[in-house]
Amino acid sequence: MRTARARHYLMCRPTYFDVVYSINPWMDPKKPVDTPLAIAQWERLREVYLSLGHTVDTIEPVRGLPDMVFAANGATVVDGRALVARFRDAERIAEGPAYHDWLRANGFPDLRTASVVNEGEGDYLLVGDVLLAGTGFRSDPRSHDEAQEFFGRPVIGLTLVDPDYYHLDTALTVLDEKTVAYYPPAFSPGSLAVLQRLFPDAVLASAEDAAVFGLNATSDGLNVVLPRNATALAEQLRERGFRPVGVDLSELLKAGGSVKCCTLELRPAH
Ligand code: ARG
Repeated sequence: MRTARARHYLMCRPTYFDVVYSINPWMDPKKPVDTPLAIAQWERLREVYLSLGHTVDTIEPVRGLPDMVFAANGATVVDGRALVARFRDAERIAEGPAYHDWLRANGFPDLRTASVVNEGEGDYLLVGDVLLAGTGFRSDPRSHDEAQEFFGRPVIGLTLVDPDYYHLDTALTVLDEKTVAYYPPAFSPGSLAVLQRLFPDAVLASAEDAAVFGLNATSDGLNVVLPRNATALAEQLRERGFRPVGVDLSELLKAGGSVKCCTLELRPAH
């Protein structure tokens, strides 16, 4: 029997969402973006979380930071301690201090800003007691050492090799304390071997489901909120006893983000 555990999430309304620069292959500034539709889709995601019994806080969006909706990138918060992001790209640098200030003012005084590039939960995913940490495109591999020192938890580095799956949370999702789903071709051969060793029972996603960002999902241990178009993945999850909840975030996909990217988990001290 799978059981859900209520989560505490931080989200940022896409009030100023747009695609005006390109820092990943999904972003085409020539393609029009429907910001009101992005807001409506985001509101729906928030309502889904509330209906599942989760707590959702929101951080004030900042004009001129069109990617700030991707709250996952703001920090990694484990055991009530926050390692705040340091972004790779100039266009997003100012988001770090905004998340830092919000966390400090909202019950997370034990925090530090990363000293090398570290894009928060975009590249850091907690599974059980261990942090999986992506590198290859965004977070610097040296950020893995810093995170291990800061959190006092084992950090397992994984190298991403496909530019379409530039953050770990675009290629791997944590379903419960010991189960993950991932897209094998997104990882280097050595990292793939590590995943196979650690998670022999993992759910393996198809190219089609990965391409609609099906792995950019959140799970409370039972309910898995994921992009609606990832239909085969939803079926695989159902077979494993999870409850997939599909949502449509098509406008946000134009910036290379979806469900998980919009969601930062705030894990309390025990
Ligand atoms: N446009 C954003 C970027 O390239 C998307 C971030 C998506 N966030 C994530 N957690 N994968 O930085």
